[in-house]
Amino acid sequence: MKNNPNPKGHVIVLPYPAQGHINPLLQFSKLLVRKGLKVTFATTPYTINLIHEPTVSVEPISDGYDEGGFNHAPSLESYIESYRSVGSKTLSELIMKLRHSCAVNCIVYDSMLTWALDVAKQFGIYGAVFLTNAASVCCIYWEMKLGNLVFPLEKWVLPISFPGLPTPLGVSDLPSFVARPDDHKAYLDAIMGIFQTLENNDWVLCNTFQELETQALDGKWPVIPVGPMVPSAYLHQPSSDDTAYGATLWNPISSKSYMTWLGTKPPRSVVYVSFGSMATTTAKQAKEIATGLKASEKKFIWVVKESWDILPEGFISGLDDAGLVVTWCNQLEVLAHPAIGCFVTHCGWNSVLEALSIGVPMVTVAQWSDQPTNAKLVEVVWGVGTRAHKDSDGVLSGKELEKCIREVLDGGKSEDLKRSASKWSESAARALSVGGTSDKNISEFVKILISGKG
Ligand code: UDX
Repeated sequence: MKNNPNPKGHVIVLPYPAQGHINPLLQFSKLLVRKGLKVTFATTPYTINLIHEPTVSVEPISDGYDEGGFNHAPSLESYIESYRSVGSKTLSELIMKLRHSCAVNCIVYDSMLTWALDVAKQFGIYGAVFLTNAASVCCIYWEMKLGNLVFPLEKWVLPISFPGLPTPLGVSDLPSFVARPDDHKAYLDAIMGIFQTLENNDWVLCNTFQELETQALDGKWPVIPVGPMVPSAYLHQPSSDDTAYGATLWNPISSKSYMTWLGTKPPRSVVYVSFGSMATTTAKQAKEIATGLKASEKKFIWVVKESWDILPEGFISGLDDAGLVVTWCNQLEVLAHPAIGCFVTHCGWNSVLEALSIGVPMVTVAQWSDQPTNAKLVEVVWGVGTRAHKDSDGVLSGKELEKCIREVLDGGKSEDLKRSASKWSESAARALSVGGTSDKNISEFVKILISGKG
């Protein structure tokens, strides 16, 4: 479906320019277009050519680093500050330019870009923040904004407890920005900026669904679930033509040889290993993963986006048919292949939602940010995975990985994990099907925009 040429509502969607943020915001844009809105997706010159989604118009907006993007910024602080000043200006110019053809009446912006709300207010149009984390994780930040967290957390005498999360929660189960605030000051400041101004938004949208996080969405804070932002072909609608997010920032792999290889493997026999777009793997960790995969005697596909020099010598040449190493893959296609039985994941929120929607049990290897809390939800609350414990140096041993893979694929828990995964997959599909909880929320949002101000 093409952008409606004469729409009553026109939304600018503004993602933070990273894979884990562009994917859900582009997916949301596509859903809005399907419901009759015009959408302009505004992203940085560095990322704009990587967006291939014909139903959504794409326009540039500058972060001040048009050549190299975030990687050319000296620090996260200076990147965020540069995006704030240059981005506010170029976003305003874009709104004025678009006025001539079709006036904009709402900005939906990524939660890392709080300044977009000021721009919306200046133009007297709606502002909606889009939260790319789990609602349960956002609740923790919300409590922090209310002053209900006691620092340092290690000295906390009461059991740590939050809606939708098991009690007591260990400090290490909290987002790393909260557990170790001094290590991640710039990220924490950016996140707290969102929560300080949350109520000023006309909508607070979250990439989750009501049935998945009922307690965290219980009305204590102003949030509207609209997820999961997963293309509909992966939400029990195999005939849908919505088969990809529409953006790949990493080297896209043209050859689908890994899909052909998967086609030769029995159902639920292969392990898929990926740690998302941001986390990096050290050579020491890579050696342990290689050892664990080999010892598990399971076939595997392992995404190693770093230089393959981190792999043990001779590992690739000795693989034969035991497994594949790829620099990047189409994760949705891989997860949805019947041969995949287990996902060893860093628990980035998109990866978790994808595995839940497709129904693949997980081994959780959280790295940082929201991932430790997502891992807790996956294992304890939703019962769709098992946690791989790291040693005191933060390294996951080959032995532990082997144990967890066996537990998920053939241990006593494996049938329960499969059952829960399949239950959540049906629930995710229902939320976004016509009349489902998220679908209704999106329709309500669109209805107001079509009849609204701006
Ligand atoms: C980060 C955080 O970890 C996440 O929790 C936060 O909400 C957004 O920013 P990232 O580390 O990139 O994201 O992980 P994730 O959220 O899982 O997103 C990665 C995306 O890249 C997924 O949509 C996944 O499908 C895609 N991907 C990953 C591929 O398409 N191919 C790959 O080989 C690996």
